Amino acid sequence: MNILILGSGGREHALAWAVKQNPKCDRLIVAPGNAGIAEIAECALFDINDGGAVVTFAEENAVNFVMIGPEAPLAAGVADRLQEAGILVFGPSAAAAQLEASKSFTKEVCDAAGAPTAGWAQFTDADAAKRYITDIGLPLVIKADGLAAGKGVIIPESLDDALTAIDEMFGGAFGAAGAEVVIEEFMEGEEASFFVLCDGENLLPIGTAQDHKRVGEGDTGPNTGGMGAYSPAPVLTDEVAKKAMDEIIGPTMKVMAERGMPYRGVLYAGLMIKDGQPRLVEYNARFGDPECQVLMMRLGAQALDLMLATAEGRLDTAQVNWADDHALTVVMAAKGYPGPYEKGSEIKGLDKIPEDSKHMVFHAGTTEADGHITATGGRVLNVTARGDSLREAHDEAYAMVDRIDWPEGFCRRDIGWRALG
Ligand code: AMP
Ligand code: GLY
Repeated sequence: MNILILGSGGREHALAWAVKQNPKCDRLIVAPGNAGIAEIAECALFDINDGGAVVTFAEENAVNFVMIGPEAPLAAGVADRLQEAGILVFGPSAAAAQLEASKSFTKEVCDAAGAPTAGWAQFTDADAAKRYITDIGLPLVIKADGLAAGKGVIIPESLDDALTAIDEMFGGAFGAAGAEVVIEEFMEGEEASFFVLCDGENLLPIGTAQDHKRVGEGDTGPNTGGMGAYSPAPVLTDEVAKKAMDEIIGPTMKVMAERGMPYRGVLYAGLMIKDGQPRLVEYNARFGDPECQVLMMRLGAQALDLMLATAEGRLDTAQVNWADDHALTVVMAAKGYPGPYEKGSEIKGLDKIPEDSKHMVFHAGTTEADGHITATGGRVLNVTARGDSLREAHDEAYAMVDRIDWPEGFCRRDIGWRALG
């Protein structure tokens, strides 16, 4: 079959890498892709947030199956347009993707499902929000309701910071995403991510991961899109996973179906776990980046079969074949990230790194010209390895990092520290 993947990051490189190993895949196209993806797939350029353009491209290229990587095309209804055109798609409808696109929508669904999550209140004007904050006091979490590229969450350290954050959000710091603000109870515990496929009715867990959101070692400094990740997440034991399925994911998926917006795709549940009890922090309607890289490293070619089963509504007959393995990815970013950084520096040494089923450098923000690879983004490479233990995966990944010659880049040296002990 001919497969089209939408997106340009390390997540999409990992998806392409896994899909490509499956004999069912004939032609593989990624739009827009990047320099690493171009080594294993065709890249195409069109507006991936424009459902009409995606359908036209898919029809002209006899595409049988489309996988949607990032959230923006989901929220823009690209999956809906593909479905209307009779093209098989992995990724939820815009209505179902509200689980990521609107915090208050998700909170309300959780309440209807009785799913454990932080207490919350929603505000549409600054004065009421400030009165509420002054009333209940810290700790609390302030969130822009809509999509804010992972930046719309503030955990204030003082009442002043909290009140300033409210003014900034209603003042347009996060654009339309901040027109409504959700204020949540602060939950303590350890965070982990749980990935579950849902075909509208049936559920199939496909793995757990933990990422490192802060830019600095020891999990310090500003938040980023993620500086590294590993799978599985030790804190998400079988018992915790079962609770998350029975109390959170199962019931919320049922509410979605009952409301006429069945969820089809991968559900990424961010969980806060304390004393063996999971509570929902957030849902995302897509794979995490860089969590996807460690999941794909472990799943390999079967990822395509699982995503097809999801799109075709037959997850009840699908199963995951687990190896008892571990994967870890180290993000290499441009110096300055997540603040301002330079683009265009050259990355050398990539051709000397052997890539196989246990070692891959996924590209996140690169371009190629005349045989030279240059950095074009903040997060640039995802150096990923798989091993029999997390320690082995860690050591292999950092051995690869050390062979990359890119003075303008940096990475954290402590990815996996919590699980490595
Ligand atoms: P989100 O974008 O909702 O995932 O939030 C970003 C990060 O903020 C999460 O990964 C958590 O580390 C933190 N966070 C969000 N909501 C809460 C909460 N209610 N309690 C504690 N931490 C939270
Ligand atoms: N790594 C976090 C995310 O993809 O949202």
